[in-house]
Order: sequence, then C-alpha cells, then structure tokens
Amino acid sequence: MAAMSLQLTVVSLFLLGGVLTFPLGQESCHPTKPDMLNVHLVPHTHDDVGWLKTVDQYFYGDRNDIQHAGVQYILDSVVDQLLKNPDRRFIYVETAFFYRWWRQQSSSMQQTVKQLVNEGRLEFVNGGWCMSDEATTHYSAVIDQMTMGLRFLNETFGPCGRPRVAWHIDPFGHAREHASMFAQMGYDGFFFGRLDYQDRARRMMYREQELLWRASDSLTPPMADLFTGILPNGYNPPEGFCWDQSCDDAPIRDDPDLEDYNVDDVVKRFLAIAEGQSAVYKTNHIIMTMGSDFQYENANLWYKNLDKLIHYVNAQQANGIKVNVLYSTPSCYLQELHRTNLTWALKNDDFFPYADDAHDFWTGYFTSRPALKRYERISNSNLQVVLGRLTNIYFPVLSLSEEAMAVAQHHDAVSGTEKQHVANDYARRLANGWQHCQVLVSNSLAGLSGSTAERIYCDNLNISVCPLTESSKKFSVNVYNPLARPVTWPVRLPVNGTAYVVSDANGKSVDSQVVPVSPATREVRRSRGFAVNELVFQVQAPPLGYTTYSVSLVITYEHFLQVTFDPDTGLLSSLSNLETKQTIKLTQNFYWYNASDGNNVESIQPSGAYIFRPNSSTPFVISKTAKTESIQTPAVQEVRQWFSPWVSQVVRLYADSRALELEWTVGPVPIDDDLGKEVITRLDTSIQTAQYFYTDSNGREVLQRKTDFRPTWNLKQSEPIAGNYYPINSRAFIKDDDDQLTVVTDRSQGGGSINNGSLEIMLHRRLLYDDVRGVAEPLNETSGIFPKGLVVRGRLLLSLDRPASAADAHRPLAQEVVLQTWKHERRSFSGLQAALPPAVHLLTLSQWDKDSVLLRLEHQFQSWESKVNSQPVTVNLQKLFTTLDVLGVSELNLSANQWKDEMKRFSWTPESGTAHLHLSVPSLQHIRT
Ligand SMILES: *[C@@H]1O[C@H](CO)[C@@H](O)[C@H](O)[C@H]1NC(C)=O
Ligand SMILES: *[C@@H]1O[C@H](CO)[C@@H](O)[C@H](O)[C@H]1NC(C)=O
Ligand SMILES: *[C@@H]1O[C@H](CO)[C@@H](O)[C@H](O)[C@H]1NC(C)=O
Ligand SMILES: *[C@@H]1O[C@H](CO)[C@@H](O)[C@H](O)[C@H]1NC(C)=O
Ligand SMILES: *[C@@H]1O[C@H](CO)[C@@H](O)[C@H](O)[C@H]1NC(C)=O
Ligand SMILES: *[C@@H]1O[C@H](CO)[C@@H](O)[C@H](O)[C@H]1NC(C)=O
Ligand SMILES: [Zn+2]
Repeated sequence: MAAMSLQLTVVSLFLLGGVLTFPLGQESCHPTKPDMLNVHLVPHTHDDVGWLKTVDQYFYGDRNDIQHAGVQYILDSVVDQLLKNPDRRFIYVETAFFYRWWRQQSSSMQQTVKQLVNEGRLEFVNGGWCMSDEATTHYSAVIDQMTMGLRFLNETFGPCGRPRVAWHIDPFGHAREHASMFAQMGYDGFFFGRLDYQDRARRMMYREQELLWRASDSLTPPMADLFTGILPNGYNPPEGFCWDQSCDDAPIRDDPDLEDYNVDDVVKRFLAIAEGQSAVYKTNHIIMTMGSDFQYENANLWYKNLDKLIHYVNAQQANGIKVNVLYSTPSCYLQELHRTNLTWALKNDDFFPYADDAHDFWTGYFTSRPALKRYERISNSNLQVVLGRLTNIYFPVLSLSEEAMAVAQHHDAVSGTEKQHVANDYARRLANGWQHCQVLVSNSLAGLSGSTAERIYCDNLNISVCPLTESSKKFSVNVYNPLARPVTWPVRLPVNGTAYVVSDANGKSVDSQVVPVSPATREVRRSRGFAVNELVFQVQAPPLGYTTYSVSLVITYEHFLQVTFDPDTGLLSSLSNLETKQTIKLTQNFYWYNASDGNNVESIQPSGAYIFRPNSSTPFVISKTAKTESIQTPAVQEVRQWFSPWVSQVVRLYADSRALELEWTVGPVPIDDDLGKEVITRLDTSIQTAQYFYTDSNGREVLQRKTDFRPTWNLKQSEPIAGNYYPINSRAFIKDDDDQLTVVTDRSQGGGSINNGSLEIMLHRRLLYDDVRGVAEPLNETSGIFPKGLVVRGRLLLSLDRPASAADAHRPLAQEVVLQTWKHERRSFSGLQAALPPAVHLLTLSQWDKDSVLLRLEHQFQSWESKVNSQPVTVNLQKLFTTLDVLGVSELNLSANQWKDEMKRFSWTPESGTAHLHLSVPSLQHIRT
C-alpha cells in the first residue's frame, strides 16, 4: 500500500516493517460469581516520576527525609510476594521506573518476572514512560512518551506485556484529546480518580460513574470511543483498609486465642462499604484500589491482610452473604463490565476544570512555572528535529533527550506542581538532552553539506544574546524546518553593527532591518551579551529541511494587518485585517489577581501551585497607561510599551505576517506588599460572544467552552474566575458571526472568557502560601540571575479572521510555534520531494530500527473547521521522500505497539437517547436531562 487516505486522524506506519502474528495472552482472571456482588481488589502503587523528590531519588529511596519512598524496593518486594501465592495480583504503571529496575535484575530474575507477566499475575497498565499530565502537555510529546514505554514493554514481554487499560488515577482533570489518543492506541478502557465534586455527586446518584467517552467530534465512532471508569475513592483503599507500612489501620487479627480478635468487625465493615459502593455503580462488579502513593515497599503487610480479607469475607457465603471478593486487575474488572452487555452514558466534552470543593479549583497549574513550561515546549520542538534520523545516522544518545522529554510529561513535571529542587532536576535533564540533540543535528548537517564549519546554537535569542552574531562581521545562519511544508519565519539576531546585507542560499538578497535592542531586553539580559541592535529578516525554510542565509537591505513589504493605539493610554485600541477588511475594537492590558491567603469566611483555601483562588474577582490593573516608543521600518514595526518596572511588552507587526506578535515580559513579580499575585493579560474586544469561547485540547482538537456552564451537569458556580479557567495548550479563540480573534500561545497557560468579548490569559504567578495538596512549598520562583523573582518572557500571536476560514490560518500557525524553526549554521536541503497538503501534518518520522522508519501522518483539521481543509486527503507515500525508497508499509496503532489489523478493542454501546449526541459540529450545547 503506497497511497493512503487520511481522515482526521493520526496513523502510525512502519515503512519496511514485516507483519508478525502472536498467540493471545493467557486467560488469567479469577472467576467471578454471576449471582453475587463481585468485589475486585486491585493491589497497586502510585509512583510519581518526580514530585517531592526527583525521579532518581524516588527510584533508589534516597532522601527519605523528604518523603519515605523507594521504588526499587517496591518492585523487589512485590515480585517476592507474588511468588508466594499464585492468587495474588499486582499492576504496574510507570515504565520509567520499571525500566530502571529491570536493567538491574539477573537473567533468572528477569525470567521469573516474565513468567509472572505471562500468567497475568503481574499486569502492566497504562505503560507509558510516565502518567502524563493532561492539561499542560502537547499531544505530540504524549504520543512520544507513550510510545517509548510501550515499546519497551512489547520488546521485553511481547503481547502479554501490552497494557489493555489506560490508568490516569492522579492527573488533575482529564482532557478529551488524551481519551482520543488512548482509544487510538488500542486501549479497551480507561480509569481515573479525580473529577469535579459536583459532577461526581450527580454521577453517583444516576450510576453514571462508568461511561462511554466519545472523545472526538471528527473521528467516526467507535474510533475515539473510550470506556471510562471513575474509581470509587480516588485511588486509595476504602477507609479503614490500608495495610501498608505507611498506614495505621488495624491488621486482621484472626487468632481467637489472642487478644483483640477482630475478624467479625473487619468483615462487617467491609460488607458495609461494598454495599454502599455497589449502590452507586451499575453492575454486580465493583473495584477497590488497594494501594496508594509509593505503597508496597514492604508488600508482605498488604498481601498477608488481603489474603485473609478474601478468605474471611468469602467464608460468609456459606451463611448466605452474596458477596464474592477476589484479587483482580483493571483489565479483569473491565472484562466483566464488558460481559454485562449493558449500555453506558455517553460523554462528549471533557473533565476540566477540576474542583475538589466549592473554592478549590485546580486551575492554577495551567500556568504554574511558566519558564519550565516554555522550556519543555522548546525541547519538544528540538526533539521533533527529524532530519538526522533520516540520513541513517541513528544515535542511541537521542534517547537521552527522549527520556528527559518523557519524564517531563509527568503530572507533577510540566504541570509545575513539583518542589523547586525537582523542577530544577527536570530542567537539567532537558538541558542534557539538548546538548546531545545538537551534536546529532550538527553531524547530520555536516554530512549533508559536506561542511565541517563550526556551528553555534543560539539558545538565548529570546533575550537578544548570541555570541557569534554579535561579535562577527560575517556569518551564516542555518534555519532548520521540522515541518512537512515550507515555512516563513522572522529571525531576529543580536548584532552590534548598524547595516547588514542578507542573502539566501541562492545568493539572492533578502530584505532586512536593523533595530535597537530595547531597554527592557537589556535589563533582562543583564551582563550576558552586548549587542546594541537586532537584525531582523524573514527566512523561508523548505519542508523537512534546512536552508542557509548569509548575512543586505530594504524593499517594502505588503501589510496584512493594522493596529491602532490609544494616544492617551498607549494601549492597543483596534486590530484590522486589511485583506478581509475586518476591524475590531481591541483593548489589551495587564492585571493581577490578589491571591487568597486562605483567611476568609467562605473557605481557608489559599492559591498555590495547583489551585487558583483569587481573593477577589476584580483584578488590579498594573497600570492604566503605558509609556510607548515606536520603531518603524519597512520589515517590522514595533511599539514598545512600559507598564511598570516589572511589566513590559513589545507589539510587533512584521511585514508579510498575518499575525500580530505580543512579546510580554513579566517579573520579578513584587511581593514586598506580602500579597501573592497572579498576572494576566486581558483582551477586551467588540466581538459579540454570548459566553462562548474555545480552547484546544492538548494542542489538537478544539472544544467549545461556556462561562458558568458545564455540558453534563447543572453547575453551581462558586468561583467566578477560577471556575471558568481552562487549559490552553496552543490556542484559544472568541468569535461571533463576523469576526474571530485567535490567540496562539508559546507554552501551556490557563485562561478564560469571564466577560463577553473578552479573553484573558494567565502569564505568571508568584504565591506566598502552600495550597495544601502535598507539594508543601509556596510557588515563589527565583533563579540565579533573578534572585528577586523569576522574570519570564513569552509571545502571544493574534490573528483576526472570518470564522469560516480562521482555522485555515491558526492551525498552521500553532504548529509553527510548537515546532519552532531552528536557527544555526550552510546550504539547502529538503527531505521531502513535495510539501504535504496543508491539512496533513507530518507528526513523526524516526528511524525505528535498522530497516524501518516510523512515520506518523496526521490530518489536523476537525470536521467542522474548514470548507477546504477538513476534507479527507490522500497521500502518496512512494513519492513523498527524497532520501527513502519505500519498499513496504505496515499500519500500526497510534502508539506503534500493535499492528492495526490485530487491534480489536471491546465494543461498547451508548445508552439509547444519547447516541444522537454524535454531531459533526461542536456538540457541547447539549444538556442531558
Ligand atoms: C447484547 O445485547 C444486545 C441488545 O442490547 C443483544 O442484541 C446481544 O445479543 C447481546 N449480546 C450478548 C453477548 O448477550
Ligand atoms: C558595540 O557597539 C557599541 C556602539 O557602537 C560600541 O560602543 C561597542 O564597543 C561595541 N562592542 C563590541 C564588543 O564591539
Ligand atoms: C488581598 O487579599 C488578602 C487576603 O488574601 C487581603 O487580606 C488583602 O486585603 C487583599 N489586598 C488587596 C489590596 O485587595
Ligand atoms: C519568596 O522568595 C523571596 C526571594 O527568595 C524570599 O525573600 C521570600 O521569603 C519568599 N517568600 C516565601 C513566602 O517563601
Ligand atoms: C530564554 O530562553 C532560555 C532557553 O533557551 C531560557 O532558559 C530562559 O529562561 C529564557 N529567558 C526568559 C527571560 O524567558
Ligand atoms: C513487539 O516486539 C516483538 C519482539 O521484539 C517484535 O518482533 C514486534 O515487531 C513488536 N511489535 C510491534 C507492533 O512493534
Ligand atoms: Zn501522582
């Protein structure tokens, strides 16, 4: 098959792969009793890939003074205990840890563990490198980290090691795109622990804690349908039944000759809990998670008591008690639910935002640690550099940056909810990964261009620092484009001269301008770098390739956008698209919310790393006016705005650009008034929005949001700001019949549309109190060069379009920002013979092994988004590559751990009456009654 048709999905393909078949995994679930309530006990441990301690400290059990936790001992102990009784079961989740442990085992131990896996006594669930965060991760990085973990499991254990169930018991809210990805990765079902407390209460009442999630409005069902189960007690055991060494609950004392015999009491309490639980679930099967954070280090304690619990409760069957307790796993439990052949409530929206009480919205972490969030995003863009892997230079070292990126997807990593020293560790890992990645790209470029000239990477262009360009009279610039279509990108290089000539790879001169470095930039860069000017020019890079510019002057460009500023305030006042002849009123300013310190009547909840809780719904304006200075050249026009010593912005309009750039700089956020601050920028426009706005899910599909509204329950809004915040991964928009204003972000941020016509985005947060969710530190970031508080700079790109064609512009724009073009040192090369059609994005192209390449092609438009680009597309693989001969193609699931033709998922039936919910337009207005 050389041509393939794409319909709004991602397909994974092995080029040159061969098809193998496998025997099916052994049937290993304990039998259940159809006439009884079956209680599935699932022994498990939740091992964070970094949180209060770093991932390696957790593995070894180092720094137990911070938190007692050692994953190596957990795995040692569990394997030992599983061998003692074949009835026992255990599930393991995080491959980052399992991989570390596996490499240290003897081959006989490895054989033993294989046996346990083959017999279903040790079962992998989820199986990605980590349990990713769902609000702040980009789908490309999630797919990569899942692929990495699942590949290890497949190669080590074969089909029995393939997890059937996705397990996100801890993430703080659940994204629709994650569910869609899990479905496409072949999972039969998904379990999680956290959802909004009002949502849970309603679902308990209607027995809808198990449901069918239809996770895409574009994919034909059941492609993105995922059976979803909400666990009864987060991921903890029932009250009174925690038998870990870290718990204080009474063990089962079953010798009647000794004191404190408690079997009758334990059985009675257990039956009461089981009965209560069965009242809020639909079938005669219920699940109990017997474990919690880093438990089972001394697994004997748990198993000894569980063995007894099962024995004594089941003994009551002789007395007519209709309860059957068994060791189980999520996939055994899921199989029983599937067997019931019932119908399930259907859900089309997502599980954001998450609140665990009236004033406790977990919407702060959407923005927490903005610098780490940006660093993670740039690292992802670097990793997506695929050129090196196309030239047969496959380096194992690449796995270093892959591992660092995979770890960074964890729900206490990019989320920003870890301790400061752990955040530093994630950043350090990413930095190590970068170094290897740069060596790799240098080598492959040298291979292609035949040049061995020294290459310098300018990582600090954000603050106008680049030792090469500022000190050289003559230099060349390589621009690498990891996208499968040509891109045009403005390059700004720090220079110390005042006039330059720039020419492209063919020697043709290119327009450029020299502008002075702003005082704000000088302030941020401190003593690093000395350039007085910036050289600005547009580069065009070929698809999947690079080009070289050597460093001429001016021609006028066409302008597509126009902005006006209020002469009295210095603030933006309107935005026009000259092509489409649209104009909106647009005022933009910066504000801060006064973070709650936890001392007030409604609730003692302070704002912190997880939780956003402003003390008042009215933010303080940082300054009503901005001092401005403008610079106009034919290539770029900019207005520099000063709002305060700690907030400034450059509004930039490049010639030829269809987006307005807002480059904001915020920090150090002052705290000398002892008030925590959450800094936002707000765009107030003349667009008539009637409470609706739109945000992306993990950078992929877009969901409709409505202020003070949830699609599946009647919301009682208790936090008018925090309860209306949603994660923004790459873009958000507001629109009416005529105008759509899209904002593309350069990292994950939180935001909302509190008032009609308005869109706000949180940029930075500095807080003085811990929010009591475990991290036990205030989010109060400083760094070596910013001891007074972290300074963060980022960009928002604004575009104004007609709603019917807006996606055609913002989808490609968002991909360009995510896969930021690379800038370094010679000549021009494209790995693709022809650019892919605009609807198709080349998501992955990587050397898989000696003979095959993993290719992921993605149709990136939702069914309702674009007249032109939402149509199915056919791509001819044979003609796609310049450096690859395609000899054969095999299709895989999304995570590349199963052949597509072997992918048989459970099928589930939605409740009748809800099936009509599948619409080809965003279907969130629907309220189920
Ligand atoms: C499942 O239920 C449907 C009707 O809802 C029925 O047609 C089908 O035969 C049932 N399947 C099994 C295996 O019982
Ligand atoms: C950079 O340019 C400025 C102003 O022209 C000059 O004073 C300075 O010496 C130059 N710095 C270097 C290192 O060339
Ligand atoms: C900010 O909020 C705190 C409570 O968290 C309150 O004590 C203080 O008065 C507020 N300050 C302002 C300026 O509103
Ligand atoms: C926040 O950080 C600053 C600078 O390091 C420090 O002086 C201050 O005590 C910190 N405040 C809290 C509440 O941690
Ligand atoms: C600039 O980017 C670098 C990474 O290249 C990052 O470490 C640094 O924090 C950024 N600086 C600012 C002010 O955002
Ligand atoms: C799973 O691993 C086996 C053993 O290494 C390998 O032969 C097979 O191709 C892998 N399956 C997939 C879908 O990659
Ligand atoms: Zn966790």
